[in-house]
Amino acid sequence: MSADGPVRPDARPGDRALAPDTQRLQADECLITPDDLASVSVIEEAAYEFPWTPGNLRDSLAAGHLFHGLRAEGGLVAYAILMPVLDEAHLLNLTVAPQRQGQGWGRLLLECSLRLAAVRLGARSMLLEVRPSNLAALGLYAAYGFRQIGRRSRYYPSLSGREDALVFRRGLP
Ligand SMILES: CC(C)(COP(=O)(O)OP(=O)(O)OC[C@H]1O[C@@H](n2cnc3c(N)ncnc32)[C@H](O)[C@@H]1OP(=O)(O)O)[C@@H](O)C(=O)NCCC(=O)NCCS
Repeated sequence: MSADGPVRPDARPGDRALAPDTQRLQADECLITPDDLASVSVIEEAAYEFPWTPGNLRDSLAAGHLFHGLRAEGGLVAYAILMPVLDEAHLLNLTVAPQRQGQGWGRLLLECSLRLAAVRLGARSMLLEVRPSNLAALGLYAAYGFRQIGRRSRYYPSLSGREDALVFRRGLP
């Protein structure tokens, strides 16, 4: 991790490439705009075997879901999408660009998601689904106190047919 402080969403070329200490990143600092959709789409395509399409992303934004992300060297490197459902925030997507994975960006982004869910959406809890085969995501969510509360059978497409989803939840302060 860099000791130079947070990479802000308005970071410019020359800012540090590694995910920084997260403590001072305020929730609203990681909001992104419709102008970022093309970059989101490029990362989405690179990160998943079954990515959201550009149309899925546009629909999600139009539905009022809360897009947020992190930049380094002026470019988007990670993003996440929250859907408010009553007093719960559903984390629909959380993705770090493949070349940036394993450098702390996932932690930084999830911290931003948790803060936005509480501060912006007034949520009392966060819910998400994850593939049992996604060990990196499982490690990340466990590190942030998510607990498994269920399993959705054959929820995701997979190369061998379908894959279950594990459902996780944690409370928000
Ligand atoms: C899952 C993902 C968001 C994690 O982000 P990341 O930036 O790579 O993760 P970080 O470097 O911040 O690591 C945070 C924690 O995640 C876990 N983790 C990350 N990579 C891991 C790996 N390869 N294996 C096991 N655990 C891993 C660890 O608990 C790690 O904490 P640690 O460094 O203290 O051990 C990222 O790998 C990603 O975007 N993957 C593709 C998209 C995806 O699967 N999204 C989640 C859908 S539910």
